[in-house]
Amino acid sequence: MNESRFTLDDRLPADYFTSTLRADVRHGLAEAPRSLPPKWFYDKHGSDLFEQITRLPEYYPTRAEQEILTRRAPEIATLIRPATLIELGSGSSRKTRLLLDALTAGGTLRRYAPLDVSATALEEAGQAICRDYPGLEVAATVADFESGPPLSDEPGPRLLAFLGSTVGNLDAEQRQVFYRTLSLALSSDDVLLLGADLVKDPAVLIRAYDDAAGVTAEFNRNVLHVLNRELGADFDPDAFEHVAVWNTEHERMEMRLRSRTAQTVKVRDLDLSVDFGPGEDLRTEISCKFRRESLTAELKAGGFTVRQWWTDSADRFALLLAVPT
Ligand code: SAH
Ligand code: TRP
Repeated sequence: MNESRFTLDDRLPADYFTSTLRADVRHGLAEAPRSLPPKWFYDKHGSDLFEQITRLPEYYPTRAEQEILTRRAPEIATLIRPATLIELGSGSSRKTRLLLDALTAGGTLRRYAPLDVSATALEEAGQAICRDYPGLEVAATVADFESGPPLSDEPGPRLLAFLGSTVGNLDAEQRQVFYRTLSLALSSDDVLLLGADLVKDPAVLIRAYDDAAGVTAEFNRNVLHVLNRELGADFDPDAFEHVAVWNTEHERMEMRLRSRTAQTVKVRDLDLSVDFGPGEDLRTEISCKFRRESLTAELKAGGFTVRQWWTDSADRFALLLAVPT
């Protein structure tokens, strides 16, 4: 009964998990300092671990954003009256339900279009939303949001949500490309809803990315399991320590995997051998933290004008509405 309202369109290039992953790993492991792009965290196990992270006592961003969404969703519905809600990096779509409740109550919403690299997350979340929101079309797309979201045939006005401060996992240069591509693709009545984590006490940030139960450490090491499985690498995940560092200069958290000893890792499918010195880091993720003035300015440079800026009661997290300029 759900089938007719739920579609899952796989738009990843056929060789995404081979060529793209290979190129990313080849470049990332050759660079100094060594790094890997974050999207490879999210296989089935990685997506499940991230969902656990969002429930950790130390990981405040999900609860802070949820607080803002709960308070502002009715206002968002009235202001925008969207026919389509598009969501980039939707994951479990758990917080999205707060928006869906308000938007379906507002009577304008016809379609929810989540986009993620994780097909399993989309399948699970999409089926559940179909079940819980009768009358809503759910059109899921497996794609990389960095290659430009496919928006063309969605009915407008469109509200494009990018939550969880996933925008902070891009560096300043990648964010500019992202904003530009998006602002050009949107029509004048479309609106961007962006969730952004704010600069705060580094001790709070470090705890959020290095929890006592070790879930974030397991999430971080999961990327090594992905490389072992997909590329025949022989990483020993236990030979790397999870490290969360506050980078003061760039105002960002950095997740790293630190080699406990001198070791050589082989990546069979790339015919590559990588030497790690003792204490040498592999950077697996950046999570930039934002300030109102600079985020408004970078959005402006990328073709967006900020219309609303809301924060949670403790000023930890911001949710903003921006329109193409
Ligand atoms: N929006 C959810 C999940 C955030 S985690 C929340 O706020 O809790 C980041 C999500 O983005 C994951 O589901 C991951 O699979 C997805 N993702 C990461 N990089 C991506 C990319 N390049 N393209 C598409 N999805 C991506
Ligand atoms: N977008 C999330 C963030 O920057 C992703 C995330 C949360 C994450 N915890 C993590 C990424 C730990 C890597 C490691 O907060």
